[in-house]
Amino acid sequence: MSRKMKNKVLENLTIERIASEGKSVAHYEGKVVFVQNVAPGDVVDVRVTRGKSSFMEGEAIKIHEYSKDRVEPFCQHFGVCGGCKWQHIDYKLQLSYKRQQVIDQFQRIAKVAIPEVMPIIGSAETRYYRNKLDFTFSNNRWLTREEIDSGKDFERNALGFHIPKRFDKIVDIEHCYLQGNISNDVRNSLREFALANGITFFDMIKQIGVLRNLIIRTTSTGESMVIVQFGEDDKEAIAKVMDFLKTKFPEVTSLLYIVNLKKNETIHDQDVITYYGKDYIEEEMEGLKFRINPKSFYQTNSDQAYRLYQVAREFANLQGDEVVYDLYTGTGTIANFVAKKAKQVIGIEYVEEAIVDAKVNSEINGLDNTLFYAGDMKDMLNDEFIENHAAPDVIITDPPRAGMHEDVVNMLLKLEAPKIVYVSCNPATQARDVALLAEKYQVDIVQPVDMFPHTYHVENVVLLTKKS
Ligand SMILES: C[S@@+](CC[C@H](N)C(=O)[O-])C[C@H]1O[C@@H](n2cnc3c(N)ncnc32)[C@H](O)[C@@H]1O
Repeated sequence: MSRKMKNKVLENLTIERIASEGKSVAHYEGKVVFVQNVAPGDVVDVRVTRGKSSFMEGEAIKIHEYSKDRVEPFCQHFGVCGGCKWQHIDYKLQLSYKRQQVIDQFQRIAKVAIPEVMPIIGSAETRYYRNKLDFTFSNNRWLTREEIDSGKDFERNALGFHIPKRFDKIVDIEHCYLQGNISNDVRNSLREFALANGITFFDMIKQIGVLRNLIIRTTSTGESMVIVQFGEDDKEAIAKVMDFLKTKFPEVTSLLYIVNLKKNETIHDQDVITYYGKDYIEEEMEGLKFRINPKSFYQTNSDQAYRLYQVAREFANLQGDEVVYDLYTGTGTIANFVAKKAKQVIGIEYVEEAIVDAKVNSEINGLDNTLFYAGDMKDMLNDEFIENHAAPDVIITDPPRAGMHEDVVNMLLKLEAPKIVYVSCNPATQARDVALLAEKYQVDIVQPVDMFPHTYHVENVVLLTKKS
């Protein structure tokens, strides 16, 4: 059984649990079937979309029985947008599934002894928790089946999010529960203004159109940054749009734009022009300021980022005389956050602009015991680096989803720091790395933290201490 199964309908499958990456699991004749967008407890008919020798994937085409754990999704765009795929599951249960994911990954991949996984730290805010959203303008709005079947003509310009796996189709967003403050207002007003004034929306296939992308960033201090990306250098239209935003939203503290004529929407290599206000916004944590410029990374759930950093600092348990390495430091947020309690903090990160920000953040906070270096971790953290710097007492590491390069893990084994605090947004790669570190380290605490309610994503912090 494999490809033959494609498109076959499997009837009355009971969804049993949620596995990694949010996929729900059922069984058919002893074989695992992964199904998207259902809830454990549902009884469904599944159309197979992919058949492999060891598992199948499918979509639910009919729900016979709804799980008692389902709740009513609160967003009108749920099911189409793909942003908050777990809105139909009670938040408490979401948290238990996330914690279970951590347990499963450590059992399946790390296969090392771990203490009981701590209760997950949930997010106090489960709506409007993001400080950054990225919307796309398109002249190819996603139409629902009912709209197509109605035979009517519809407005095809849209400003919203990409449909999952469809780069060229955009769902027009009327209200998004992910970002509060001015976010919904700015997006909807700008769309309305553009439609009323005949300003063109981007055509992703032909690569033409004036309005291309809108990024909105907010902070808990009340500052906000709005960046409009234009797909054509039409000075008149640009002035019209930017003037409109400046007049309508005087509370925006940083109003910027980019003329992006290349194929994709990424902005890292683009010139950002300040139209009004400052070219950065500032977030604050325990009185520390963090400067965020248009290209800077900053954790998108500020409140939970604070909880995450508190956990990391607690695990590090600094007494004031330690040398701390903060690996994958980004804009040095963790490094600066723990600096007051350490003798010295050394941050490494490969995005050079982020390292510039990290240094600025130390400077504006009067921290003079930090050092930051830009470069690929596996090349930076070498014997020469170690010879030229004090040996670490504590290593905090927060790698991207792919986890740490094997050379980096080997270097950590060589460094033999008494403590490693491993922060991860992907428990699978974290478990893989912990298995390698287990040669010299034991797992003392495993603490999941939820940064992204209504998604399957989970952040996990592990405290490793050197075996005696
Ligand atoms: C999960 S983020 C951590 C950010 C930071 N700790 C924070 O909380 O804001 C991972 C960081 O690793 C950086 N990174 C990814 N691959 C890298 C590599 N090979 N060498 C150095 N840094 C890397 C990314 O640019 C990103 O800033």
